[in-house]
Amino acid sequence: MANGARILLIIGGGIAAYKGLELIREFKKRGHDVRGVLTTAGAQFITPLSVASLTGDVCYTDLFSLTDEAEMGHIELSRDADLIVVAPATADLMAKMANGIANDLASTVLLATDKRVLAAPAMNVRMWLHPATQRNLAQLKNDGVTFVGPDSGEMACGEYGPGRMAEPAAIADAAEARLKAGGTVIPLPPGTDSRIDKARPAAKAQIAAKAADVPPRIAHAAKNGPLAGKSFLITSGPTHEPIDPVRYISNRSSGKQGHAIARAAAEAGAKVTLISGPVNIPDPPHVETVHVESAREMLAAVEKALPADIAVFAAAVADWRVATSAKDKIKKGPGGPPALALAENPDILATIAKSRKRPRLVIGFAAETEKVIEHARAKLKKKGSDLIVANDVSPATGTFGGDANTVHLVSADGVESWPALSKDEVAQRLVKKIADAFKPR
Ligand SMILES: Cc1cc2nc3c(=O)[nH]c(=O)nc-3n(C[C@H](O)[C@H](O)[C@H](O)COP(=O)(O)O)c2cc1C
Repeated sequence: MANGARILLIIGGGIAAYKGLELIREFKKRGHDVRGVLTTAGAQFITPLSVASLTGDVCYTDLFSLTDEAEMGHIELSRDADLIVVAPATADLMAKMANGIANDLASTVLLATDKRVLAAPAMNVRMWLHPATQRNLAQLKNDGVTFVGPDSGEMACGEYGPGRMAEPAAIADAAEARLKAGGTVIPLPPGTDSRIDKARPAAKAQIAAKAADVPPRIAHAAKNGPLAGKSFLITSGPTHEPIDPVRYISNRSSGKQGHAIARAAAEAGAKVTLISGPVNIPDPPHVETVHVESAREMLAAVEKALPADIAVFAAAVADWRVATSAKDKIKKGPGGPPALALAENPDILATIAKSRKRPRLVIGFAAETEKVIEHARAKLKKKGSDLIVANDVSPATGTFGGDANTVHLVSADGVESWPALSKDEVAQRLVKKIADAFKPR
C-alpha cells in the first residue's frame, strides 16, 4: 500500500502552506498519487493553480461548487484516498476537526471520511501551547488522528519554540509509516453501509477529465487513443553528477523535448512513466513522474519502472561522474584546484536494450554537435535500440533549452529527416510513429 498510495492532501491557511507544495512533490517523487484540497484561508498563501499543476489534478476548494459536486462530491473525495494528510494543520482546522465542525470543504471531508488522518500542525508557539489547542490535540489523538511535528525553532513571526511544521520529507515518512501500519479504513458498526462506489459509478471515470489544464480530448484518448493499453517509459532532462554536496557536473538539457513526448504519449492513451532528471519545468499532467538526480539513480528508476511496452530514452545522461564525490564541500587551498578523476556512468539505453526486460520498442536520443547522422548510425548499432532520434545541439541551433528541434530518425531502414519543428510537434509526430509501429498488420 505504501507504494503508489492515493493521498488526499488538505492544505490549511498558514505560512507553511508553501511547504504543502513541496510535500506534493515529495509524495510524487515517492510514487504516490496526490489530490489537493486548499482551504479558503490556504488560498491566501498559495494558489489553487500551483496545487493543480503539481498534483496534475483539479485543486478542490469549494464545498458548494456545482462542477465538483457533479463530478466528485465531497463524500467521494473523502473516501477516494488511502490516507488523508492535513499539512499545514492550522489551529483553526484542528479546532474544527476536534469538534466535528463541517463548514467548508476541508472540514466536511475530514468529518465524512472513513480513512485515517495524519496531521502536521503549524502555528505560532503561543497558539500551539494554548490550552484550547492542546485540548484539541488530545481529543484528536483520542479520535485516532496521527500527528507529525510540530518542530521547534525560530518561527516566521520571529518567536521561538514548538509550532514549525515538520519538513515535507518527515511528513512523507510519517504518511508512509501510517500507510504501512495498515487499517487505513475506519470500520463502521455492523448494519451500516457507506460504500458510495455503488451509488456513483461514473464519478471515478469522470475525474480524469477534470484536471483544469488538461483538454478533454486527453481523457477521451486515455480510453480510445492509439496507445491505449500500452505502458510507455521515458527519460528526460539532464543528470547531476555530484562533485561535493554543493557542486555537480551536468549539461544544458532542459527536459522540454522529453516532457513533450511524455505528454503526447499520455494524450495518445498510454500509461506513461517519466523518469526526469533535475529540470525547471512542471511535471506533465496524467503522467507518473519520478524525479532523480544522477545517472545511476536514473538507471535504477528505469529498471524499477519496467516492464514497459515502449521505452524512449530522451534524457541527456552525463557520460561521466566524479569517481569519488567529496563528503564535505571542497575548499580552496594552497594546493590549487583539486584533480577530478572521472568514472564512466552506466549506459542506460544500452543496458535496457540488451536486458531480459527489453521493451518491445526501444528508442534512444543522440545529441550531437557534428557528424550527427554518422554518429547516430554508430549509436544505433552499438546500443541495440530500434531507432535513434538524432539532433544537432551545437550552440548555434539553440536546441538545448529552446522550443524548436530539427531531428533525424535513424533506423535499420534508413534515415528520415524532419524539418525544424516545435518540440511539441516533434513529440506528436514521434508518438504517432510509435503508435503506427504497434498497429496490427
Ligand atoms: C499572515 C498570516 C499567517 C498565519 N499563519 C498561521 C499559521 O501558521 N498557523 C495557524 O494556525 N494560523 C495561521 N494564521 C491564521 C489562519 O489563517 C486563520 O486561523 C484561518 O482561519 C485558518 O483557516 P483554515 O482553517 O482554512 O486553515 C495566519 C494568518 C495570517 C494572516
